[in-house]
Amino acid sequence: MADWTKRLQSIKEEFLLTMPHVARLAKLFQNAIADGLAGRSTSLKMLPTFLTVPTGEEKGTFLTLDFGGTNVRVMEIELRGDGMLKIIRQRSRPLRHPRGLYDHCAAQSAATDLFDFLAGLIGELAKPGKRYTLGHTFSFPTRQTGVNHAVWLHWTKEIRTRDVEGRNVTELLSRALQRRGLDQVTPRAVINDTTAVLLAAAYREAQTDMGSVCGTGYNTAYLEQAGTQGPGIINLEAGNFDCVAPTFFDKLLDDGSDSPGRQRLEKMVAGRYLGELVRLMLRNLAEEGLFAGHSGVCRMLEKPDLLKSEDLAGVLHDASPTLQGIHHILEQRLHLTGTLPAERAAVKEIARMVTTRAARLSAGTYGGILRHIDPDLRRPHVLAIDGSLFEKMPGYAATVRAALAEVLGDKTDAVRLLLYKDGSGIGAAVAAAVAAGRGP
Ligand code: BGC
Repeated sequence: MADWTKRLQSIKEEFLLTMPHVARLAKLFQNAIADGLAGRSTSLKMLPTFLTVPTGEEKGTFLTLDFGGTNVRVMEIELRGDGMLKIIRQRSRPLRHPRGLYDHCAAQSAATDLFDFLAGLIGELAKPGKRYTLGHTFSFPTRQTGVNHAVWLHWTKEIRTRDVEGRNVTELLSRALQRRGLDQVTPRAVINDTTAVLLAAAYREAQTDMGSVCGTGYNTAYLEQAGTQGPGIINLEAGNFDCVAPTFFDKLLDDGSDSPGRQRLEKMVAGRYLGELVRLMLRNLAEEGLFAGHSGVCRMLEKPDLLKSEDLAGVLHDASPTLQGIHHILEQRLHLTGTLPAERAAVKEIARMVTTRAARLSAGTYGGILRHIDPDLRRPHVLAIDGSLFEKMPGYAATVRAALAEVLGDKTDAVRLLLYKDGSGIGAAVAAAVAAGRGP
């Protein structure tokens, strides 16, 4: 047996999450929530949002800004009541220009440049002379002191724009809108994307009490019934949970990241990192002899972020007998031609290990939240999920559902998982409507 196949086997064992592992994770996550509520130290940030779920009767036309990672999106949305809505217009733009003309995520970029860019995009939808109320989805950790006041804690997802920490997000946006002469646009609410998904789904389905994002980043918000000031949505910042034992590759990835020691679970679960984990594993196997017929492959595999989660989706999608799709991806990404079928199968195996673990980990956290909010699952719940992994990664959603069913046992029918696309934008409109309804 080639050394790399033995090594592959041992990695597989490290990445395997059995049913008792997932159940234990659920318990640890449940305990961490209880600790956070009781003011004890926990890796979950448990950030209050100053919002509860909508009635579904909120009405009006709103502008929304959705900023959370690779693309910014602005929308004009009409809420019609009775859970109905219409997306009137929308625009989106990447934060990094595909041909390098600008990059608002880079360390050289300043917060004012970034917010000028965001305001510019809002300006493309805001008609002169018409007044708008705006809801802003800002998908990074913030400490809120009100629905429209959020102090930026730190970046995640490897964004590096400078001069941001400790700043008030709404103030940055309002000033940028003024610089653009967009005085007719008034920001009324700033929320996390997980809160947005929860609000958007709850607008339509009253049983929704959890919102999650499994995309570039990973996180969940839920409706806490027993808050000190009555029911309220809490942004868990679940990606920072640190009770899952890291493998050798998790440690390697964390060490090489912008934020060692932070967002430990997110680095095992989110799309921003899964391709990188696979690269690190392939590099290790290449050193053991995988792709031995190809010179220079180890050097190629030194390149950080060489593989994206879209590549993993392509790898997993390939069900052809000779794995031609994988052949193509390896050719494009690693400049490898003529790989052996066994090597392509190994790449697929690794992609499956990493994505299956990610799905099972997120299911464990969902189990923990459900056990916290309704230990005996006496009422129906809807968990709304948005994000490219849940929507598009082959096998991901099915694995989440199956693992959650393992944790919940015969009560699993009480919980419905709902893919909710565009939740980030729609939820911002709902938040703006709720906030506007509270008066100035
Ligand atoms: C951020 C969260 C966000 C999640 C999903 C994480 O990196 O910390 O605030 O909800 O990504 O976008």
